[in-house]
Amino acid sequence: MRKTMIEYKESSRTFHLHNGLFSYIMKVMDNGILAQLYYGSPLNPKENYDYLLEQTPRPMSVTWSAQQDDLSLEHIRQEYPQTLSGDMRQGAVSILQNTGSRISEFLFESFEIMEGKPVLEGLPACYALNKEEAQTLCIRLYDRLIQARISLFYTIYKDRTVLCRSARIENLSNESFVVDSLMSAILDLPDDEFEMLDLAGAWARERHIDIHRLHPGVQSIYSLRGHSSHNFNPFMCLKKPWTTEDAGQAYGFSLVYSGNFQISADVDTYNTTRISIGMHPLTFSWPLAPGQSFQSPEAVFVYSDQGLNAMSQTFHSLFQQRLARGVWKNKVRPILLNSWEGIYFDVTEQKILDMARGAKELGVELFVLDDGWFKNRNDETSSLGDWIEDFKKLPGGLKSLCRKIKDMGLDFGLWIEPEMISENSDLYRAHPEWVLSVPNRRKSAGRRQYVLDFSNPQAVDCIYEQLIRVFDGLPLSYVKWDMNRSLSEVYSIAWSPEEQGTVYHRFILGVYSLYERLIERYPDILFESCASGGARFDPGMLYYAPQAWTSDDTDAVERLKIQYGTSMLYPISSMGSHVSQAPNHQLNRNTPLATRANVAYFGTFGYELDPNRLGEAEKEEIRHQVDFMKEYREVIQFGTFYRLRSPFEGNETAWMVVDKDRNTALVGYYRTLQKVNSRYRRIFLRGLDPEKEYSITGRDYTCSGSELERAGLVVSDSSAGENRSNGGEGDYLSRLFVLKAV
Ligand code: GLA
Repeated sequence: MRKTMIEYKESSRTFHLHNGLFSYIMKVMDNGILAQLYYGSPLNPKENYDYLLEQTPRPMSVTWSAQQDDLSLEHIRQEYPQTLSGDMRQGAVSILQNTGSRISEFLFESFEIMEGKPVLEGLPACYALNKEEAQTLCIRLYDRLIQARISLFYTIYKDRTVLCRSARIENLSNESFVVDSLMSAILDLPDDEFEMLDLAGAWARERHIDIHRLHPGVQSIYSLRGHSSHNFNPFMCLKKPWTTEDAGQAYGFSLVYSGNFQISADVDTYNTTRISIGMHPLTFSWPLAPGQSFQSPEAVFVYSDQGLNAMSQTFHSLFQQRLARGVWKNKVRPILLNSWEGIYFDVTEQKILDMARGAKELGVELFVLDDGWFKNRNDETSSLGDWIEDFKKLPGGLKSLCRKIKDMGLDFGLWIEPEMISENSDLYRAHPEWVLSVPNRRKSAGRRQYVLDFSNPQAVDCIYEQLIRVFDGLPLSYVKWDMNRSLSEVYSIAWSPEEQGTVYHRFILGVYSLYERLIERYPDILFESCASGGARFDPGMLYYAPQAWTSDDTDAVERLKIQYGTSMLYPISSMGSHVSQAPNHQLNRNTPLATRANVAYFGTFGYELDPNRLGEAEKEEIRHQVDFMKEYREVIQFGTFYRLRSPFEGNETAWMVVDKDRNTALVGYYRTLQKVNSRYRRIFLRGLDPEKEYSITGRDYTCSGSELERAGLVVSDSSAGENRSNGGEGDYLSRLFVLKAV
């Protein structure tokens, strides 16, 4: 019999989830409150850990009752706390009842341990391949006045430091009530000695690493934009101040959701920390009729006691292997050429065929026709919503174009933006009521376009029908699904006044349902999600599209920060990264072609330029790059990734990947500005086999794994006396080292 990973001790009513990698412990108190006792490095199982329940009340606290004044909910670390009933912090759930009361008291009712992991109906979530690799604990809490049940789900995997959590509420009464907030998870930690690490940014500078010390009060990241956003990512990490990439404790919290979210750390004045993660309560209220239930999105907790790299690697392998689905999840990704920066909206059949021919000569495998291919789409102002090819631009239609490109030996991919509508479109003329907006009020625009009401199944069906009419006739290999503006004035004529608080969430459910229908109908198509670059690079999307366009910023130097930050939780195989023209279109910077590739290799790789505008020498260099990527993409996209040196801390960046057998490794080293007569430089490698001897490209000596880890790899450049014969290397230098066990 297999050992259980979820133990329950009746004598102390204690649950202990453990797999040798971490422990998560909670207990049912005498009053029925579910208390949190411990989350961290593994503890030996024992009968009770009651000493960890620090519950001494403090002066002036509100206590449990007049009779029992030795207990205050304010000082209990809880699993799913209620708002405004003695606990003065923000709670997990808020229910507006017919009486007008929002007070609730969900107390322990029962529990169940399940093999494997149940699916979350209609929502993206991590999965288990079989019943052996995971176990799920469901704890049911019940409020006897509201007559509602909340089920808390905890999934623990065999070999991962991962805990998946979510909550579901059921209305068991004869009356409706309104769920105003249902967080996916709460975690009460006993201290506040943490730094909060999150990914903050904006368009073209997404997911920059932001770190600050926790302080008393609420500090949170969120989106109210209808998508997960450029600005914050649904991810937060708490790390000890002394935690580095390679040592120390870190807790990572991520939400498998693509809409409005909130993750907050609430530090009270007794120095405890409450993490709260879920859909943003401000834009959510869900009427629940008798018999109905509502499921929250899933929160993924990752614990590491070996630094940030280990936390990231756990996220990478989980998202790659147990979140992404379909035929592409384990396959190396095709090297593509995307038309956008090459010709923007200036699409003609001739130009496309010329570009494709040029791409083929470079060794590219997939040609992607970006924006500008559909009826009257000559600029940003029109045509979204009309998914039919422009026969003026493509006289033979997409079919004939696609056939010609296939005949060249290239696969074909297409750009779409299904959630949007232009005022100048046939769809808008037919269905102006399908725009998310408040009747008789001003409508905000974004990129001159409106948002289609994806909470309305009719609108989603209409787009689905249009898309399959295009896709069915084509041998399509790839689709880039874009989304180029935030939601505003979110109001839908499809729903009653009482249901308007459901529209943001229903919008996302509409997006998920369209994705689901398309991937079911076209299982071989590789989907890449996109939202003005990286405004919807989140775990929810990865469930449908295994890769995402990381940023509209294709400048190699800027990309170092963007990709470095993104790697905090997203695998290399998910990061769309392309080599583009110099000077760069976003900030006019000139970087060497080699550096552009050395950065873009650490992603899905491709080109975003017109190959026919390249000189012969550049073409030759690109052919080598393509060959190089074909040889090493398996290692890069599916190896173990380590961050070595942060672009947020200085002039240099370094990272590396190592294959499973630790026979091959690739190290990327980047030095932004050239310095004069500068210091010697080394980087200290990780993840190699200490016993193995490695050859290193560009070096006439070999080194053992342990040498490279301890003495380091010398990366000094011409300014420190190395390679002088090159005559100095200038700004934006980069080096790529291939290491092979000899
Ligand atoms: C967005 C995307 C780009 C490109 C354009 C097309 O900005 O991020 O990659 O597809 O839209 O309009």
